[in-house]
Amino acid sequence: MEVVFSGMRPTGRLHLGHMAGALSNWVLLQESHDCYYSIVDWHALMSDYADPSKLRGNTREVLLDWLAVGLDPNKCAIFVQSHVKEHAELHLALSMITPLGWLERCPTYKEQILNLQNKDLSTYGFLGYPVLMASDILVYKAHKVPVGEDQTAHLEISREIARRFNNYYGGGREIFPEPCILLTHNPKIPGTDGRKMSKSYGNSLDIADEMPVIDKKIRTMKTDPARERRTDPGEPDKCPVWDLQKFFNEDVPQMQEIASGCRSASIGCIDCKKALVAHVAERMAPIHERRERFAACGDELSDILAEGAKKAGARASRTMSEVREALCMTKL
Ligand code: TRP
Repeated sequence: MEVVFSGMRPTGRLHLGHMAGALSNWVLLQESHDCYYSIVDWHALMSDYADPSKLRGNTREVLLDWLAVGLDPNKCAIFVQSHVKEHAELHLALSMITPLGWLERCPTYKEQILNLQNKDLSTYGFLGYPVLMASDILVYKAHKVPVGEDQTAHLEISREIARRFNNYYGGGREIFPEPCILLTHNPKIPGTDGRKMSKSYGNSLDIADEMPVIDKKIRTMKTDPARERRTDPGEPDKCPVWDLQKFFNEDVPQMQEIASGCRSASIGCIDCKKALVAHVAERMAPIHERRERFAACGDELSDILAEGAKKAGARASRTMSEVREALCMTKL
């Protein structure tokens, strides 16, 4: 079976954008691939080193969201990056052969340094962000890496590092396969203000939000600005609520009624939103139920992470034996 690796930083509760994009893809992949999904706490620390106090809580929230949407610890390895020491060890080895220029030229690096002026990111560790990412992937010899568009530059560096390692130490053999990017399809999921859903915009519908909260957020959402009054006709294609309908509402006749009702002003935004909330409630019910069930059992969560780390560690330690051998570090 082909190996899949992906990771997410523990930034706290995930939202419906994560669910519609990355996570639904991960859930499908676990049926057909040998999947390793990691909460990458070292990566979080690279930018949030000044205050790690939220790390533990955020890791728990991400884990609960993963389990809630259907990642199944019996089908994939779910673990915390720092629990598998081999990530850090390979990171050190790969740092030896990674030219500074590759990292300095990385567009996300330049961008982050400029954009996050409130954090001092001119650290040795942060420059190496893509090296740690390469280690995450290569330590499992992963073939496929499902990520969004924003990670393409990082994936390219991973491939270059793999190639360089093979050239130096492979002796004609491919120690690391070059990982392929599996570009995540991200359906358009707007936040409550119509912009892209994002935690940093404060416009998100979270997976963990209970239905009354989601109901309130949707009821106060912006709609087509042309529909100022109930009697003004609207255009669904200019309305963020319609984008949510397209994701959650699978009732085709009802969708047609809503679209024509909006265009003719025979229904109001409130009617449209009520229908949407009903569909969201239906879709989220089993997800919320699972989340509550996992949140209620304390020890089981750490057992899941321990199992995941054990499975991941077994594969990672085999790779590291080969790496130490290739680097002539075997016992005398
Ligand atoms: N950098 C990725 C992100 O911010 C997270 C990540 C860390 C990752 N290591 C990885 C993704 C390895 C894929 C593979 O989304």
